[in-house]
Amino acid sequence: MSNEPNRWLTERSGSADEYDATYQQRAAAGEDVHGEADFVAALGGHSVLDAGCGTGRVGRELARRGLDVAGVDIDVQMLATARRMAPAVPWLAADLATVDLRRKFDAIVMAGNVMIYLAPGSEGMVVANMARHLAPGGLLVAGFQLQAGYFHLQQYDDCAAAAGLELVQRWATWDRVPWCPGGDYAVSVHRYGGGE
Ligand SMILES: C[S@@+](CC[C@H](N)C(=O)[O-])C[C@H]1O[C@@H](n2cnc3c(N)ncnc32)[C@H](O)[C@@H]1O
Repeated sequence: MSNEPNRWLTERSGSADEYDATYQQRAAAGEDVHGEADFVAALGGHSVLDAGCGTGRVGRELARRGLDVAGVDIDVQMLATARRMAPAVPWLAADLATVDLRRKFDAIVMAGNVMIYLAPGSEGMVVANMARHLAPGGLLVAGFQLQAGYFHLQQYDDCAAAAGLELVQRWATWDRVPWCPGGDYAVSVHRYGGGE
């Protein structure tokens, strides 16, 4: 277990409702704010864990499209917004490093920089625990910024390999702009090959 503080809980500024409102305002201005949900829906699975769901921004949209969604987050304020906006979805307050949902998913999405907001040192535990929640052939999808001083892509790939996950797709954006090494954002899809 990491002794470092969780980066999101120590660095977050603004309320959960303010966080969610920025997306609502962008949507009201005509912007498509569902790139992550489009990406995950196109993978074709039925059950999705929104891991580090925050206000449920991505999971709410996937549930609205008929997918079987659950969400987990460590920030109870973010979860309060998720619960208010989509009460039918199960939203659980827990740490991704240790949560045991006693079920498996076709896909797990960690959108919105979840990987770089974890407690430093806990990333390998989180990736391994997410792999434990994937059905055989299930997909772990993560999008996060790549910047000095934060968790980087090779570390993520190393954690994934150690957890039995194989890289099957990598993009520069959620709308599938091709990945180029040296980019400042990556969307990675790893497949879990293992059985029980
Ligand atoms: C930038 S927000 C993204 C929220 C949401 N995925 C989105 O795209 O809008 C990062 C989220 O990761 C969550 N998070 C960070 N570390 C976590 C952990 N160890 N377990 C569960 N959630 C965590 C934070 O609480 C926060 O809600």
